[in-house]
Parts: sequence; structure tokens; C-alpha cells
Amino acid sequence: MLSRRAFLRMSGAIGGAALSTNVNGLAEVAAASAAVEDRSAIDVAQDEFYWREIQLGFTLDRTMINLNNGNSCPSPAVVHEAYKRYLDYSNQNPYHHRTLIEQNLETARRRLAAEFGCDQEEMAITRNSSEALQIAQMGLDLQPGDEVLTTEQDYGRMLTTWDQRERRDHLEITRINFPVPTTQDDLYERLERAITPRTKVLHFCHITNLTGQLFPVQRLSRMARARGIVTIVDGAHAVAHFPYQLRDLECDYYGTSLHKWLLAPTGTGFLYVRRENIERTWPLQAAPKRRDADIRKFEEIGTHPAGARAAINEALAFHQAVGAERKAERLRFLTMRWADQIKDHPKLQMHSNLDRGQTWGLANVGIEGIPARDLSRFMWDKYRIVVNAIVRDDYQGLRVTPNIYTPLEEIDTFVMAMKDALEHGISA
Ligand SMILES: Cc1ncc(COP(=O)(O)O)c(C=O)c1O
Repeated sequence: MLSRRAFLRMSGAIGGAALSTNVNGLAEVAAASAAVEDRSAIDVAQDEFYWREIQLGFTLDRTMINLNNGNSCPSPAVVHEAYKRYLDYSNQNPYHHRTLIEQNLETARRRLAAEFGCDQEEMAITRNSSEALQIAQMGLDLQPGDEVLTTEQDYGRMLTTWDQRERRDHLEITRINFPVPTTQDDLYERLERAITPRTKVLHFCHITNLTGQLFPVQRLSRMARARGIVTIVDGAHAVAHFPYQLRDLECDYYGTSLHKWLLAPTGTGFLYVRRENIERTWPLQAAPKRRDADIRKFEEIGTHPAGARAAINEALAFHQAVGAERKAERLRFLTMRWADQIKDHPKLQMHSNLDRGQTWGLANVGIEGIPARDLSRFMWDKYRIVVNAIVRDDYQGLRVTPNIYTPLEEIDTFVMAMKDALEHGISA
């Protein structure tokens, strides 16, 4: 049911969500969700009245169209305000007040673990995916000649980390490649085929940042465990993007950034470590021996701002008020809205699998004969669309990442821009 308040907004009282000074907080978002509770997430994904209420939870620069949420996402106002409040509070007496906030960070750990499906004693709060994943990558005892198996389409920084360990510790790093889009069976088979008796670590993305290619995490983790191989999964783009539970993935380590799809302040992430691995994993920054089996040893990073971590609580509350299923379905709806309008054009190159259960809010599209960087520049120059160009030897395209605050008009402007480029080229 549409609330009276929502109806008044839609009927013109507040025509442009962007310009409203009446920013929705948690109560309004929760009320909007309560009003659609009896409907399926797929149905609500198409309900502009509902999503207008969510859009009003953000204060954005609406003079431009942000389709680069894959980099990092703006926080809703309620999260950003909390972050500023925690910062102001800390600043009154950094030692005393910041310490008080830090003492409460167990609440964030507990809630993150409950939301994403693991034991709180397996959840370390980090500054981002880079830190989380490097704790796992650098923290494993490996011998010269041990092999790490990963892919060419893993994240650059994580590959750089392995390359450095190769130089320093004389590991052997094997990267396999795969076509995009491809199937989960194909990925499974390629990785399984590449395993050798020396393989000690399997490192791959849950979904890649390049095309959103989804990996069969549970199957790969089971296969690896049966062979005594450790799994490190890069979940930078998966957490709070589509629903799943960490324990169902059955991997050994899982790292993510919360300033992406959870919409938490910049500088937040987590590392999941399967309980039996905690003790044998060295932290990136040294911790005392008595902490060997304590997940908190990975958080010993010296003095740092507590506010960003504290505001994870508000980001989780916002995420839950919208609902993980509704959010995933809306992201998918937005992707399909642009993809369906252009995907059959003969010059269009779709690098993502658009099947249900494979893609949500991250897809990669190219145009034959137009370099992705030029297309991205065209998007900005002519349409003020911010979108990331992915350029590789094997494919290139725009990585399109809308968000739950994205109105349909912005998606349709992207479609107009793509049709413009497809029909007229971009030289003018
Ligand atoms: C797949 C993947 N892994 C890791 C990272 C690193 O994330 P952060 O820069 O937040 O540490 C990113 C960032 O975009 C990513 O896309």
C-alpha cells in the first residue's frame, strides 16, 4: 500500500527528490518497507513510489548521474550524519571519548556477523577489502615453491600482493583466465583443472569488479578443502549487494569493503576467518601471543578514527530497513531496465550474464569499434554520466553500477546516451 505521504510526494508536492530538504531517515524508510511487506521483492522492485522514499534517504549531487557505485557508494544521510556525530564526539576528548566509542564496537561485530551469517568470533572489522584480503594473503605460512592459484580477473591490488609474495617468499603464482560472461561450471572446471599437487591456496572473487561474473564459491571451497587447499574469497562487491550467508559459502577467508554496497562510511570493511584458521593466520600488524586465537588480533592497527566503524551500525540498520531481498531485486531491475533496451543491437557487446541469479547491480557493456575510455568520456562530456571504463586485452566496456537511490530517469538517460553512441558514433 502506498502511504499518504509517499503519494503526496509523487503527486507533485515535492517534484524533484533531489531538491527536497526533507531527507528521509530510518523511520520513514522502515515505514515505506512495512507498507510493502506483503508483496514480493520482484514486485516492489518496480514500484517507483516505494523507491522514491528510499531515494529521499540520500543527499546527493543530482547535477550528475553516478553509475560508478562499484568504486564506492555514498552513504544515506542517516549514516553520514551518525558518522559526523561520532567524529565530533571523539574530538571533544580523543583519548576518553574515542575510547568509549571503541569499547562499543562489539555491537557492530555482533550485528555484522548476524546479518551476513557467521559467528561473531569469526568477524574482524577492517578498513576495507584490501586490508581484509591482505591479512589472509600475507598471514598464511607458505613455503618456497608452494603454489597459489588465482585468476587474471581478480582485483589488481590482490594480484600485486601475491606478486610481492612471489618475489619475497618464492611462491609460484598461477593465474588462469576465462571468457566473459561464462558459466559457473566453466569456472569450476577451469580452476579444478589448474590445481597441481603444489597448490596450497585458491584465491578468487565472489563476483568480479570487472563484469560481475559470479563464481561457484561453495563448490570451489568444498573441492579445495577436500584437497587440503585454503580458499580466500574476494567479496568486495558481493556483501549487501545480493543476499547470502557466509557460512553457506564454506570458504576459509572472505574479505569485503562496507563502503561499497552496504553504504557505510569510507574506510570500513570486514574479514571473515573460519574459526579453525584464526590461530594459524598472522595479523598484518603484530599482536601479542595471548591474542593468537582471537579474531580481534586482526584489528590491532594503532590509533585510528572510531567514527567510521561506529557508523557501520547505522548502515546495517538502513540496509535492514530497506531489506536485502528488495535491494537486490531493485538493483537487478535497474540493470535489466538499461540492458533490455539495448542488448539486441548488433554492435553491442554484453560482457555480463543477464540471467536471473547471476547479475544484480553490476554489468559490463561495450560497443564494437568504440574504445571504452572514449565512450566513458563521451558519457561524461555529453550526458554528465559518471561510469567506469574497464580496459583489458581480452575485452573492454563500461562497468555500469547504479544504486538503490538511482531514479529511472537516470537509467533512461544512460540508455539514450548508449543509443546515441550506437547510432551516431561519438566523434562529434
Ligand atoms: C574485487 C575487488 N577486490 C578488492 C577491492 C579493494 O577494495 P578497497 O579499495 O575498498 O580496499 C576492490 C575495489 O574496488 C574490488 O573491486
